[in-house]
Amino acid sequence: MRPSLPGGQFTFPGTSMTVQRMGYGAMQLAGPGVWGPPGDPVMARAVLREALEAGVNHIDTSDFYGPHVTNQTIRQALHPYRAGLVLVTKLGARRPPDKSWQCANSPQELTDGVHDNLRNLGLDVLDIVNYRVVGSGHGTQEGSVAEQMTVLADLKRQGLIRHIGLSNVTAAQVVEAQAITDIVCVQNLYNLVHREDDLLIDALARQGIAYVPFFPLGGFTPLQSSTLSDVAARLGATPMQVALAWLQNRAPNILLIPGTSSLIHLRENLAAMNLTLSPEALVALDRIAVPASTH
Ligand SMILES: NC(=O)c1ccc[n+]([C@@H]2O[C@H](COP(=O)([O-])OP(=O)(O)OC[C@H]3O[C@@H](n4cnc5c(N)ncnc54)[C@H](OP(=O)(O)O)[C@@H]3O)[C@@H](O)[C@H]2O)c1
Repeated sequence: MRPSLPGGQFTFPGTSMTVQRMGYGAMQLAGPGVWGPPGDPVMARAVLREALEAGVNHIDTSDFYGPHVTNQTIRQALHPYRAGLVLVTKLGARRPPDKSWQCANSPQELTDGVHDNLRNLGLDVLDIVNYRVVGSGHGTQEGSVAEQMTVLADLKRQGLIRHIGLSNVTAAQVVEAQAITDIVCVQNLYNLVHREDDLLIDALARQGIAYVPFFPLGGFTPLQSSTLSDVAARLGATPMQVALAWLQNRAPNILLIPGTSSLIHLRENLAAMNLTLSPEALVALDRIAVPASTH
């Protein structure tokens, strides 16, 4: 029996998939710029294996990380996959040779994307597929997702996908998608500083839908705040640990997928679930994102 991580568990709605709320995001395993092989392939596989040994059973990935490389690394490290591991992947983008991120959301591109993920992960069926809207950078952009949801719902009926989620979406896009198919998770940019999704998180929590913040530690621009550092120093923790503990505390439907290519950071991130934030610390941390004019 695997260890149960502190931080609790979450069952995706309408599924039998229960995961530890502390998961792992695999994007950092590709080379610089999320392109090419890992800088240290042995370390990349070690990080994946240690995460699972510690009890992680939720890994976020995509075939456009690398491209293909991150999924292939997961397969090399973890296949055959242990029972209970939930691999969540995403479609909607492609990486041309200039290493840019381009939209890939036609029916053919989505179908090809499912088959790429199946092949590179070594699976017959994908646990959860998020449709990632390519908007402006990491920001959302309104626009219909009906065609893409219809394609994914069809791939689900064909048995190639178990469950469907969304990424980089607005509340209106979630509602539109739900009229077409069941949505089990939403993955958007959110952290201690970027709190544009506060209302969406609460709305999803009421429906039991998972909210999975990407860039929980700030992504390519690590979170920095004197308040965060002060709270961390008082707890004898690191700022990144406090940022994760704050997310864990923010809402019961938040699942954590911090990304790291380092064993030391992995251990630090997993240990963050042991932190208890006092009411005073939570008030101080909440104020980090409040516009200066309202202080
Ligand atoms: N849906 C989307 O559009 C989307 C977009 C971006 C990401 N994602 C997903 O979200 C996951 C998380 O996002 P992310 O990995 O981009 O960003 P993140 O988790 O916010 O931050 C990762 C960065 O923080 C560093 N880091 C990790 N743990 C640390 C620690 N304890 N102390 C100091 N630095 C630490 C990592 O470097 P080291 O490698 O050196 O630890 C890396 O540079 C990704 O892995 C991916 O699966 C999804």
